[in-house]
Amino acid sequence: MIINYRNDQDKVAVTKETESLLRKALQAGARVHRLPKETEVSVTLVDNAEIHQLNRDYRNVDRPTDVLSFALDEADEPAEVGGPEEHLLGDIVISAEMAQKQAEEFGHSLNREVAYLAIHSLLHLLGYDHKKAADKKVMRAEEEKILEKIHLSQADLGGDMHMSDDVKDGFLDALLAGTKAAKSDVEEAGGDVALLFGKARKAMENAYIPYSHFPVGAAVLTDDGTVYTGCNVENASYGLSLCAERNAIFKAVTEGHRTFRMLLVTGNTTAPIAPCGACCQVIAEFKIPRIVMTNAAGDIQEATYADLLPFGFSEEELAEGQQESGKKAEKPAAAKKSAGKKKKKA
Ligand code: THU
Repeated sequence: MIINYRNDQDKVAVTKETESLLRKALQAGARVHRLPKETEVSVTLVDNAEIHQLNRDYRNVDRPTDVLSFALDEADEPAEVGGPEEHLLGDIVISAEMAQKQAEEFGHSLNREVAYLAIHSLLHLLGYDHKKAADKKVMRAEEEKILEKIHLSQADLGGDMHMSDDVKDGFLDALLAGTKAAKSDVEEAGGDVALLFGKARKAMENAYIPYSHFPVGAAVLTDDGTVYTGCNVENASYGLSLCAERNAIFKAVTEGHRTFRMLLVTGNTTAPIAPCGACCQVIAEFKIPRIVMTNAAGDIQEATYADLLPFGFSEEELAEGQQESGKKAEKPAAAKKSAGKKKKKA
C-alpha cells in the first residue's frame, strides 16, 4: 500500500518511531484485507483545533475527535495519471493531541494509540462501521486481527482495551437509548462509565488466573468520586479465589468508603459479564445503585442492586431474626424432649 504521511501539527512531539509503527499498522491492515499494492491512503496528524473544524464542517459535530476518515474510493485509470494504476482509498486524519490524551488515559504509548487509530480509520475506509452493536463487534474483531499482526492486540497487551471517542460515543448512545434523562446528565453519566470502563480493563490485565484463565476487571465509584479497581485473584485451593468486584469493593471499604455511586464489571465474554451470586450479595450490602456490566466490545447492560438480587438477604432481616443477647436459642422439638436428662454417650 502506498502511504502518504504528513505531520501537520506541532503540539505533540512525534518521532520517526510514531511514523514507522503507523506505517506498519496500515501495511498489516492492507495485508489482512488483501488490498492491491497500488492502494493509496494519506495520513495526516493534526491538532485538536484542526480536527474540531473538520468534524464541524464535514460531520456537523461541534467538538474535536480522535480520528476522521474520508473515503474517496476513486480508481484512476493509468492513462490519466500517466503511470501505474493508483487506487485512492481515502484520507485518514488523526488528532495527535487527542491520541496523546487517550494514550495517557489508558497507560500505553502515543505510538500505539496512533497505530490503533490508523487501523480503526482504515477499516472505516474499507466500509466497516460501529453504529450498531453487531457491526461494532465485527469491526473490533477486525481491528484485533490487524493489531495481532503487529503484536499490539489485547492478548499481546494482556487484555488492554483501547477506548476511543467512538467507544465513548457508543456508551452514550446505549445510555441514551435506555434513559429519559437529559442529554447533559447522560453525558455526565457516560463519562463516569467511560472512566470506570478504562480503569476496569486496565485492572483486568493484572488478573491472577492460573486455573480458570478467565480474566475479570471491576471498578467502583465512591460518593466522593474516587475510583477503586479490582481483578480476580485465584488460589490453588479454588474456593479461596476472590472475584474482581469484591476485590474492588473491599479495597474501597478498607480506605474508608461505604457509599458508592456505581460499580462496573468487565470481561472478555460475548455478552456483558454479570457479577456472580456472592458478589451480588456484597453489592446488595452496600446498596450500589448502578451496576454496569460490560465486555471487551463495549456492549453494556445496566441493573440496580435490587435487580441483581431481588430477594437478597439484608441486615434488616438479620435484625429481625436475631435472638436477644443472653436468651438461649429455642431448642428444636426433638432436643426439648430429652432436656434435663443426662446425655447418653454414643
Ligand atoms: N469471577 C469474577 O471475578 N467475577 C464474576 O462476577 C464472575 C467470576 C472470576 C472468579 C474466577 O477467578 C473466574 O472468574 C472464573 O470463575
